[in-house]
Amino acid sequence: MNDADKTMPEGDRVCPAGRAWLLSTSLRKMLGQNPETILKGMVREGDTVVDIGCGPGFFTLPLARMVGEKGSVIALDLQEAMLEKMQLRAEQSGLLPRIRPQLCTAGSIGCAGPADFALAFYMVHEVPDAARFMDETRCMLKERGRLLLVEPKFHVHAAKFWKTVEITWKAGFTLLSEPRIAFSRAVLFERV
Ligand SMILES: C[S@@+](CC[C@H](N)C(=O)[O-])C[C@H]1O[C@@H](n2cnc3c(N)ncnc32)[C@H](O)[C@@H]1O
Repeated sequence: MNDADKTMPEGDRVCPAGRAWLLSTSLRKMLGQNPETILKGMVREGDTVVDIGCGPGFFTLPLARMVGEKGSVIALDLQEAMLEKMQLRAEQSGLLPRIRPQLCTAGSIGCAGPADFALAFYMVHEVPDAARFMDETRCMLKERGRLLLVEPKFHVHAAKFWKTVEITWKAGFTLLSEPRIAFSRAVLFERV
């Protein structure tokens, strides 16, 4: 076991903070995961958005730019070390005033909001109870608020992904579209 793995708080399901650099590398953009391109048309100026499982903030900072001065980003993670990395990057970019970091637990993300948009990028496969997670996500969103669910093809096979889509639908979401995102399976939902 290396040092990064020793910092894992919740068994081997959770991406350890020691690997945060992999999540915030600009290589990700070059390989087709540009946050602005992915989120275009989903987030507007003045919106309140939630970045669930924000990690070191690869999406949090672009989201903060997209919502502008009048909007806000609730950045949730269960690892304090991930939130600290995100905050440092946000401070250096001058975006921290638009971001509300929030520590949660593996079993519950709480019910922050109400939000116009929620992002769950590469994190639902790490959550122990997807049904509860989707109930709480729904509770955070305004009526007709949107949720972008994205899972990595290399960790989450198609059957498991579609099971998560079914759980999300049962929690009270309708499926709007299947955005194409490099290396990923993705669905955009709307809260009923
Ligand atoms: C693979 S990383 C993805 C980070 C970020 N969304 C990205 O795409 O760069 C997964 C993140 O989700 C967080 N996470 C895992 N389970 C969680 C849970 N139940 N509640 C909140 N955050 C969670 C982990 O701590 C980690 O920061």
